[in-house]
Amino acid sequence: MSHDDDIHSPSGRVREPEMKRTGCGFRYAEDELSAGVDFSAAAKLLKNDESGITIREATPEDATAVAELVNSAYRGESSRAGWTTEADVLGGQRTDTNMVREFMESSFFRLAFDGDTLVGTMQIEALDETRAELGMLAVMPLRQGKGIGGRLVRDAEQFAMDTLNRPVLQVRVLEHREELISYYKRCGFQPTGETGPFPDSPRFGVPKVEGLRFTVLRKHLGQV
Ligand SMILES: CC(C)(COP(=O)(O)OP(=O)(O)OC[C@H]1O[C@@H](n2cnc3c(N)ncnc32)[C@H](O)[C@@H]1OP(=O)(O)O)[C@@H](O)C(=O)NCCC(=O)NCCS
Repeated sequence: MSHDDDIHSPSGRVREPEMKRTGCGFRYAEDELSAGVDFSAAAKLLKNDESGITIREATPEDATAVAELVNSAYRGESSRAGWTTEADVLGGQRTDTNMVREFMESSFFRLAFDGDTLVGTMQIEALDETRAELGMLAVMPLRQGKGIGGRLVRDAEQFAMDTLNRPVLQVRVLEHREELISYYKRCGFQPTGETGPFPDSPRFGVPKVEGLRFTVLRKHLGQV
């Protein structure tokens, strides 16, 4: 297909380019970016997401809503409506209001909203001088698979670089959750081979299988 075909609709009007799904959300190919296409609509979509999602930093007043969304996305029957769940490996709670408030003192929570509705959460914590960790990444089960998670991951990367000045972002994922490990790989995270134990406390959940362990993946965002 020539660029002329690509840019102009049969009516002669400049047509918006189609978004391409290339993993972890939407991206444009390099050749499209240099093809002279009118990208104003696309730029708007990329800034404010294809689904009108906005992201803001959480306040302590958000803690209960954050805990409810995280629990519903990770565990229990509600989480099975999403495409990935840990309901088969862990029971009990993933978090609670007090834990979220406690974590808010030493880390940042950023929240995705559709209008007034909370649809996604994440926690970002500076670990040392170069690394930040992304955790509690959760999207409302019925809203998953539509790019909100990818949007949050990209926001986390930007926040780690621009606000925390940490050029490495890491995630810890339960080894059992292969589909989730694949997801993070598509988002550009690389397995490090490092592992760690699942905390032995009902505050974080009750294991349904033996020997639960986290595996660590990292993404380099800039010069270390
Ligand atoms: C992980 C999570 C945050 C992703 O959010 P999301 O809004 O679904 O993410 P996106 O829509 O941006 O991307 C979903 C991807 O999974 C893919 N997907 C959809 N259904 C799938 C399925 N049944 N199996 C595997 N992959 C699937 C989509 O095609 C998309 O792929 P892409 O990365 O190539 O674009 C969300 O699923 C969630 O809240 N899970 C439960 C909580 C959790 O486990 N959090 C992570 C802990 S480390």
